[in-house]
Parts: sequence; C-alpha cells; structure tokens
Amino acid sequence: MTAVLDAAGGASAPAEVFEAAVAADERIEPRDWMPDAYRATLVRQMAQHAHSEIIGMQPEANWITRAPSLRRKAILMAKVQDEAGHGLYLYSAAETLGTSREELLDKLHAGRQRYSSIFNYPTLTWADVGAIGWLVDGAAITNQVPLCRCSYGPYARAMVRICKEESFHQRQGYELLLALSRGTEAQHAMAQDAVDRWWWPSLMMFGPPDSESSHSDQSMAWKIKRHSNDELRQRFVDICVPQAESLGLTLPDPDLRWNEQRGHYDFGPIDWDEFREVLRGNGPCNEERISQRRRAHEEGAWVREAAAAYAAKHREADA
Ligand SMILES: [Fe+2]
Ligand SMILES: [Fe+2]
Repeated sequence: MTAVLDAAGGASAPAEVFEAAVAADERIEPRDWMPDAYRATLVRQMAQHAHSEIIGMQPEANWITRAPSLRRKAILMAKVQDEAGHGLYLYSAAETLGTSREELLDKLHAGRQRYSSIFNYPTLTWADVGAIGWLVDGAAITNQVPLCRCSYGPYARAMVRICKEESFHQRQGYELLLALSRGTEAQHAMAQDAVDRWWWPSLMMFGPPDSESSHSDQSMAWKIKRHSNDELRQRFVDICVPQAESLGLTLPDPDLRWNEQRGHYDFGPIDWDEFREVLRGNGPCNEERISQRRRAHEEGAWVREAAAAYAAKHREADA
C-alpha cells in the first residue's frame, strides 16, 4: 500500500489512506492501519474458514482405511492432508491480524466460532468421497477464487495456493463419480444416492440469500468479498448442470431448467430451515465433529509441547 498525499503534499489521515488503497485495488498488509471492524470481520471470516478446513478432514478421513484400491487411498490421503495444510495457512494468515492460533482453536472447541455447516453431514458410502470432491470442493472453489483478489494481502495470497489444491480435489471427486457412474448398476445407484444427498447442502455453502445476509454489504465495500452469495450460488449451479450430464447423473431438483431470458439455470427453493437447524448445532454430526476435534487436540498436546521444547533449545543454541 502506498502513502497517499493530500493537496498540500502532507500525509493523509490513516483512514483516508486505507480507503484510497481499497478503492485503488491495492492490498492492505499486516502493518498498515485498518479500521477495527475490518480487522474483526477478517478474523471472523478467516477463523471460520480455517476451522472448516480442519473439521472438513473428518468426514473423508472416515473412508481412508476403506478406500477400494491403493490408488484411491493415496489420492484421498493426499487430499485430507491438503485440508490440514489449508487450515495451517489460514491460521497463520489470521495471526498476522494479532490473534493467536490457540485463541482461535479455543473458540472453536468452546463452540464460540463456526465452521461450514456442510461438514455436519455424514459420509455414508464410498461415493460420498466423490460427491464431496465434486460438489463441496467445487463450491469451495467457486467461493474462494474471488478471494484471491481479497483486499487483505495475507488472505489473498493464501487463497492462491489453496485454490490450486482445491482444483485437484474437485477433479478427483469428479473422476471417482465418473468411474462409479460407468460401473455396475449398484455402483451407479451409489453415486446417484450420494449426489442426491450432497446437492442441497452444497448450495447452502454459499450462505443465506442476499436478502438476509447481514455481513455482505460492508464486506463488498471493503473488497473482502467480490460477489454476493446468490451470485456465487448461481455460478455454481450453472457449472454443475452440464457436469452432471457428462457424469450420467441427475441433480435432485425438479425445478432445474435453463432460463433463456436470464442466461442461467433456474433452480428450486432451498430449505433454509434445515440450514439454520444445522447451524444451531442440530445437524446429524455436529456433536461428533466437535468432540472428535477436541479429542484430537488433547491427544496432540505432546506434539505441541515437543515442538515448543525443540524450538526453545535451538533459540538457546543460537543465542
Ligand atoms: Fe481446503
Ligand atoms: Fe478441498
């Protein structure tokens, strides 16, 4: 971010420098002045995003030991490890705003910060791994590609790498579903069942409709967000319909049809009551996900202690 000079050639007030940088599409960096609400909004969004990455490891990790071949197991392990890495980039990016990873994890474990509601649904069959890759990672990419141009530098830069990895996730899911869809009748049915269960929750991943989204306007003005929830949801539907056709699978929405006038696919109403219930903690797996996360954190205490002791020993040796 470059300094902005006023008409007299003197430096402007920090708020004006910030506004001018955002208007000029420059990046805000950790040491730059920023409004408290901008910082708080970013911390909330990045924390929720980081939490979603690490909680999102659970539904799929559930299938690693039961992957049908060595190739599928290697792909799934790589994908789940990527998600752990995404969590780490994002916690690190959030730390540049003055919040520690410990603090964010404590809030997650205490139920004071959220993660994406999609991860409160169960993975019932192997085909769910494919449906998650195709639809859930696909929806994540649609949401995250515009975040590569987010006004906050560390978040935008973390997103560039994350999006490349998400693209691999989406493709492996698509390829897995294609194999099942072209397989036996039972395999095809399993793929269709998974898509039937994951389609609507994937559409909910874009958040509430624009008419009800409380944070959107300010986030758009700050260029944290570049498109509204409904715009991104529509973009996702438009991408998925032809892909479902190539997969030989159907999407579970009788109202889905091309609208010549709008140049988009129309789709049926989303069950926002279900979305709110899952957010309130009443989804099929909320309890299981958070207790598993707490347990993993407790069981990992010795790793954190060992890493801290190792770092301290090296600091001493360097001093
Ligand atoms: Fe991810
Ligand atoms: Fe992913």
